[in-house]
This record gives sequence, structure tokens and C-alpha cells, in this order.
Amino acid sequence: MQGWLDSAVQRSGLTANLPKADAYRELHSQLTALLAGERDALANFANMSALLYESLPDLNWAGFYFLRGPELVLGPFQGRVACVRIALGSGVCGTAAARRETIIVPDVHEFPGHIACDAASRSEIVVPLIHHGRLLGVLDIDSPRLARFDHEDSAGLKPLVDVLLRGSDLDRLAG
Ligand code: SME
Repeated sequence: MQGWLDSAVQRSGLTANLPKADAYRELHSQLTALLAGERDALANFANMSALLYESLPDLNWAGFYFLRGPELVLGPFQGRVACVRIALGSGVCGTAAARRETIIVPDVHEFPGHIACDAASRSEIVVPLIHHGRLLGVLDIDSPRLARFDHEDSAGLKPLVDVLLRGSDLDRLAG
């Protein structure tokens, strides 16, 4: 195994017992190392979904939807099979994309129009992917635990998304 990958894999999972802010700082270093020297967007998005899913506690889904015309289409993810197309403005993902803002849902049963891909999901965070003012899609993370996500998650995920977008060739991802 390549050295950088070996070290990233060994270190993943180590963030579970850290305070959130420290865990996200650690994830930022891991993601930077994981993406170093690789600009293929599909590969990088796939690896980021795996890194998040392995490293953050209490998740049942982590992945991406890409903007294709008027809807979001499923991209690389970890977790159970998911709905493929989500209209802008629908569900948590479509709402976050339409508003271009992060949405934290403490209880998905209380979110009107929530799209239940996995009945185990109880809370969710969706971060829009915006690069040079252009909406590319969303990062969606689900948890089986109520109120799993808070402002520390949104503050920690945003720099990770920035590393991902800056480090990938995005031209063919959305459109
Ligand atoms: N719950 C999302 C749909 C995507 S799945 O959770 C993977 C929503 O309401 O948009």
C-alpha cells in the first residue's frame, strides 16, 4: 500500500473519541494527505465519503449529490442504497442546494418533505458544494442518532469541502 494511503487508513477511526473541533482538524489533515497529488474528482469524492463514514461516529450514510440541470443526482457515497434523483427544493438536500446554505436537521421526522432513503436515519446535515459561486451539488450525512449534528459539524465540514473542491478537477462533475 502506498505510504500516504497506509497512514490515512491506519489513522481513520481515531477521531471518534476526540472533541468535535479536534476531530475535524485531524480529518482536515487526513483529507489533505489523501488528496495530495490526485485531482480526479470522482476518485477524490469517493475517498472523502469513505473517510467521513469511517471516521465520524454514529453515521449511517455519507456521500454526495451532484447538480445536473434542475435536479440533484446521486454521486459517490457510503451507506445503504439511496434515492437517485432529488429535485431542487425537495427534501433536505434539495432545500440546502436551493438555499445554498448548510441545513442541520436534528429530527428528520420534523422536517417537512424529508426524503427517507434509510428508515434508520434520525438526523441529518447537508452542506452545499459551491465553487467560485457555482453550485455543484451537496454533501449529505445521516445519523441514526437524534440531534447528532450541530454548528461544530457545520463549521468542521465546510473547510473539508473547500479542500475537496480546491483539490479536484470539477469540470465534468455537474452541469
Ligand atoms: N434525506 C435526504 C435524501 C438523501 S438520503 O438521506 C441519502 C433528503 O431529505 O434530501
